[in-house]
Amino acid sequence: MGTDLEKIKEEGLLAISGAQDFLFLEEAGRRYLGKKGVIADFFDGLKDLPAEERRAAGQKANAVKITLQEAYDKKRAQFTIEERQKIGAEKIDVTMPGQAVESGRLHPLTLVLREAENIFKSMGFEVAFGPEVETEWYNFDALNIPEWHPARDMWDTFWLKQGNTKNKEKILLRTHTSPVQVRYMEKHKPPIRIIAPGKVFRYEATDASHEIQFHQVEGLMVDENISVANFKAIVETFFQRFFDNKNIKIRLRPSYFPFTEPSFEIDVSRGEGKWLELAGAGMVHPKVLTAAGVDSSKWQGFAFGMGLDRLAMIKYKINDIRLFYQNDLRFLNQF
Ligand code: DAH
Repeated sequence: MGTDLEKIKEEGLLAISGAQDFLFLEEAGRRYLGKKGVIADFFDGLKDLPAEERRAAGQKANAVKITLQEAYDKKRAQFTIEERQKIGAEKIDVTMPGQAVESGRLHPLTLVLREAENIFKSMGFEVAFGPEVETEWYNFDALNIPEWHPARDMWDTFWLKQGNTKNKEKILLRTHTSPVQVRYMEKHKPPIRIIAPGKVFRYEATDASHEIQFHQVEGLMVDENISVANFKAIVETFFQRFFDNKNIKIRLRPSYFPFTEPSFEIDVSRGEGKWLELAGAGMVHPKVLTAAGVDSSKWQGFAFGMGLDRLAMIKYKINDIRLFYQNDLRFLNQF
């Protein structure tokens, strides 16, 4: 019994004094002084001793415990002092280069959209939105494009599986922002001045100027006595301000859209002798007004739709539409 205790004391002292740091010290403390430690074990064993030996062994074990505890406390205090000295001696080298914080920036399409919104807002237009998953009615029929109409071929459509839509309507990814015209007119009485920016989708092969997903800005103005002249003035002002160029001219070329009559393509010239086709437009077809619940004998309007990606490409001289959607930082960091 006695030799056992001597051995415990020697080894315990060695483990404690030899600990290289706090972790080793705590480990040694647990092993010898802990609840399930060597000394606690020894006390447990006392009950197996004859009564006359028990008392003396218990006293000796207590003495060993106190010795080890003192050694442990001393070592711990020493580590604490050393640790504090180390912290005090630490210096910060303020001349070391810091870590640069990368700043985010706005996507070029966001920049262009915000600019377009600001210009139209300053001319009294509000910004309206519609859903990207649209029904066949709003995307086509209400815009005077019935199912049998050949003009449906102008938009290559992503049809979606019919879900739990009311009346089992056919649903699709909207091919243009024009449905927002109808949705807005259903809920708001004229006079109306809105633009409706948003994402649109076409089922087509991608190349430098085609993406299956791109952005349009729709415009709609409905009032009494609206004419093509109002429309020309507003759109020309928009392009002059957007390209920051007072010499910009627009030209209306006759065209065809089922939802406008007459219909135009809007060409824009920046005075370089070149005309760029930048928007489709026209006077809102009476059938569209009627479909949206607006009295077409009292109200008229004009509408236009332009590709936001194309505007951004021209403004920032970008030659591939796909760059907008690849999230390549080498591209995005240029704006
Ligand atoms: N929705 C047409 C398209 O995607 C663009 C367009 C043409 C919109 C004429 C209009 C419009 O509002 O009047 O091709």
